[in-house]
Amino acid sequence: MAKCNIGLMGLAVMGQNLVLNMEDHGFRVAVFNRTTSKVDDFCNSPEVKGKGRKIVPCHSLKELVENLERPRKVMLMIQSKDPVPAPEVALYPNNAAVDAVIEELIPMLEPGDIIIDGGNTHYRDTDRRTKYVESKGLLYVGTGVSGGEEGARLGPSMMPGGSPQAWEFVKDIFQAICAKVGPNKDIPCCEWVGPRGAGHYVKMVHNGIEYGDMQLICEAYWLLKNVLNLSNEELYDVFAQWNKGDLDSYLIEITRDIFSVRDEKTGGYLVDFILDTAGAKGTGKWMSQLALDLGAPSTLVTEAVYARALSAQKKARVAASSILSGPSQLPPYDGDKESFIEAVRRALYASKICSYAQGYVQMQMAAAADNWDLNFGQIALLWRGGCIIRAVFLQRIKDAFDKNPNLSNLLLDEYFCQEVTQAQDSWRWVVRTAVERGIPTPAISGALAYYDGYRSATLPANLLQAQRDYFGAHTYKRIDCPEDEIFHTDWIALRRKPE
Ligand code: 6PG
Repeated sequence: MAKCNIGLMGLAVMGQNLVLNMEDHGFRVAVFNRTTSKVDDFCNSPEVKGKGRKIVPCHSLKELVENLERPRKVMLMIQSKDPVPAPEVALYPNNAAVDAVIEELIPMLEPGDIIIDGGNTHYRDTDRRTKYVESKGLLYVGTGVSGGEEGARLGPSMMPGGSPQAWEFVKDIFQAICAKVGPNKDIPCCEWVGPRGAGHYVKMVHNGIEYGDMQLICEAYWLLKNVLNLSNEELYDVFAQWNKGDLDSYLIEITRDIFSVRDEKTGGYLVDFILDTAGAKGTGKWMSQLALDLGAPSTLVTEAVYARALSAQKKARVAASSILSGPSQLPPYDGDKESFIEAVRRALYASKICSYAQGYVQMQMAAAADNWDLNFGQIALLWRGGCIIRAVFLQRIKDAFDKNPNLSNLLLDEYFCQEVTQAQDSWRWVVRTAVERGIPTPAISGALAYYDGYRSATLPANLLQAQRDYFGAHTYKRIDCPEDEIFHTDWIALRRKPE
């Protein structure tokens, strides 16, 4: 058989599905896995052998490399492990394993060959690896791949970055296997994002936005359940309805479906039997950490990460629930059910707009800091299909950046500005209701606080600067003097002496 177009190492579910997807599109794929029985199981399966697929089993990295046409393309799909407890040992989950494979591969490859990492990798690792691999005369691609198992099989959203010279060699494969959108389903959800770690940065922001979307949906669910006492059947109908409008998206759709699934053990609804402690693999946390590094106010993802952390403290919450009290008993809500449902929908949509606005601001700040020329409209299009946050709404973001490529905040785009303005009264009503009734809504409330902060020409930071100058001589600027002039006051000498 002719040499393979690409080799893939790592035959967990994502890896296997990507291989099948590539082969569906006419590419010959060589496969390898450390536990080599996986190679045989996969290649002898009815899906591969039974269908006579052009997939070549390899039992060593060397064999994988030998089976590839030049320039060789070796894609690593190494699963991220749970975050390691000691960050100094291995900074990021799949750090050590990917580095080890790269070291092994380098002597086997020739100039111009390409190593591709398709895992959820921290962009700083991808930055470092791109430079290192390039220094060895090879090319490197760090690509975000989103869409879970189904996406990998039928068309993921892909966000590649790394060595720009590699793009022409991987483009055909990536754009063949990725999701397609547009009226003729011919716009690929995969374009070159930028150099070094840019692709993995954009994937991380995708994941952070995913965290925000999921948290917002959970808060909407909790409000509808606790204020209106909606049953799972009613929740199904609400989410089905929402999925027909502005909120039309994969996450709303699967949420709708979840409310219909019965538990085989008890016959009740499965969702009610799931322990309320959330897990996380770390990409949301990375986005928050990097937002803090940049000074980007990405409050939604951070609230979502904290909400997961608080949920995980189940024992402490159970203990506290019998000690700490909530607001004094309020009568059950007796207003119009439909009005409150609609208010929650609007609050969710407005909060979602803030979340995406924050994500884009963070990407803009990162692009400036790392010297990436990101195309923000195109990024919205990459997320339009295939990925977890895919939504009709992303076309609006694409349109906004088409209208104004230098848009500094999505909230300033005419459409989004109008939407949040229209949602505003409902949004405030929902937050008021949550506060009154002691229902935690950190993301919805936090989004409103961000909105109110962002639209404020003045904030109380004048007092904060005075405090800093008082105790630490940190200086301040004045509203009536040029920006470059700084002042310090001897506050103790001038203050009113305490009686
Ligand atoms: C995707 C997802 C995926 C991510 C999971 C789990 O784009 O397909 O973002 O990459 O691993 O969503 O993330 P958490 O375990 O951190 O929730």
